[in-house]
Amino acid sequence: MERPEPELIRQSWRAVSRSPLEHGTVLFARLFDLEPDLLPLFQYNCRQFSSPEDCLSSPEFLDHIRKVMFVIDTAVTNVEDLSSLEEYLAGLGKKHRAVGVKFSSFSTVGESLLYMLEKCLGPAFTPAMRAAWSQLYGAVVQAMSRGWDGE
Ligand code: HEM
Repeated sequence: MERPEPELIRQSWRAVSRSPLEHGTVLFARLFDLEPDLLPLFQYNCRQFSSPEDCLSSPEFLDHIRKVMFVIDTAVTNVEDLSSLEEYLAGLGKKHRAVGVKFSSFSTVGESLLYMLEKCLGPAFTPAMRAAWSQLYGAVVQAMSRGWDGE
């Protein structure tokens, strides 16, 4: 896989990272639109959410949004040496497998990430930036996929 162009990644992340919760909420609202079956995987204190809106307004879920945005932020910071995150991401993959996430759902997450970047940046989100993000996200997911190895 080609390496993501660091400058394009950093430039496009600047505006998003100023308000991670707001943009992370756009990402997850889109994710639930595209794959509503993911909703039941989020349960806190054994409580199931009745709707995406219910989930998107719960403090525990907002914490998960912050965690996701933090992992992406870390990938952006380490875009020139993603191999330094491999062990962490493999462990993160394992945790997601344990909570019942199918590996294939991570491609819907990728689509939702691109959607959020496009919404945030508008026409400033160029095709070259889109390509760079596909590469970066692809590398993150590849590292997380080790958590499903041996399935
Ligand atoms: C298919 C979409 C996803 C589902 C259904 C999902 C579900 C979950 C669940 C149920 C937990 C445990 C409860 C919690 O901490 O809130 C969790 C933890 C976590 N998730 Fe996700 N997640 C998804 C995508 C992601 C992505 C894309 C990232 C980052 C790239 C991520 C990062 C994290 C982190 C950092 C934790 C905390 C792990 C720990 O406790 O060490 N998640 N996720």
